[in-house]
Amino acid sequence: MVELSLPKNSRVQQGKTWEAPEAKDTKLANIKVFKVYRWSPDDDDNPRVDSYEVDMDTCGPMVLDGLIKIKNEIDPTLTFRRSCREGVCGSCAMNIDGRNTLACTKGIDEIKGDVAVYPLPHMEVVKDLVPDLTNFYAQYASIEPWLHTDTPEPEKEWKQSQEDREVLDGLYECILCASCSTSCPSYWWNGDRYLGPAVLLQAYRWLVDSRDEATGDRLDNLEDPFRLYRCHTIMNCTNTCPKGLNPAKAIANIKKMMVERNV
Ligand code: SF4
Ligand code: FES
Repeated sequence: MVELSLPKNSRVQQGKTWEAPEAKDTKLANIKVFKVYRWSPDDDDNPRVDSYEVDMDTCGPMVLDGLIKIKNEIDPTLTFRRSCREGVCGSCAMNIDGRNTLACTKGIDEIKGDVAVYPLPHMEVVKDLVPDLTNFYAQYASIEPWLHTDTPEPEKEWKQSQEDREVLDGLYECILCASCSTSCPSYWWNGDRYLGPAVLLQAYRWLVDSRDEATGDRLDNLEDPFRLYRCHTIMNCTNTCPKGLNPAKAIANIKKMMVERNV
């Protein structure tokens, strides 16, 4: 039977309010409140949402700047992933203001009111804002994201015409942040069997690479009611991608390739 409410130990509770350290001495006018999801595997407590007051006069402009300031100056136990802070590594993907995106490219001034920060939805949580991406990366590995060739290797490099290279535009830019897959209801319900938009976009990137010689095998690997065909064109993936990519279109193109090879 479908369970529509969360089990008791998963219900999110109201957490602690943390004052901006500067507020103890002065009355700060420029405060933004960050409401951040917290959960630790090290105790039996329910998840909670802590409120952090952040002095915007001494904070950088992005949500990631706010989180780093909280960790450095208010609460060192807050846990999140980040690396490049340039929208390149994909580590800082989280749900901000109700939408999956990158904390390092999301401006605090884009958010009216409090800044709500949660981990990517419908994933197991390792701690606080860190989702468990083990299954996501295993699915990525399953599409064998590297060049497959039968012809002998050239002495220097595999060449590609400018036109063939341009076919990869809109695909190679994917940073595997998982924002799209974790915004997709099909992936929420069947993430163990459906590959999800991010991995399918990557699969398409190799299917259309002019240098790759395993198109048939790659399509065989996707020919499955779940791995590919659980996409129902809901479009959340394309709407949320922080890099402006279109995984839904890539998936539609794979389905077209499937049809074309059978006629
Ligand atoms: S397609 Fe966009 S949202 Fe999906 S993993 Fe790639 S960069 Fe992230
Ligand atoms: S820290 Fe690398 S994408 Fe945000």
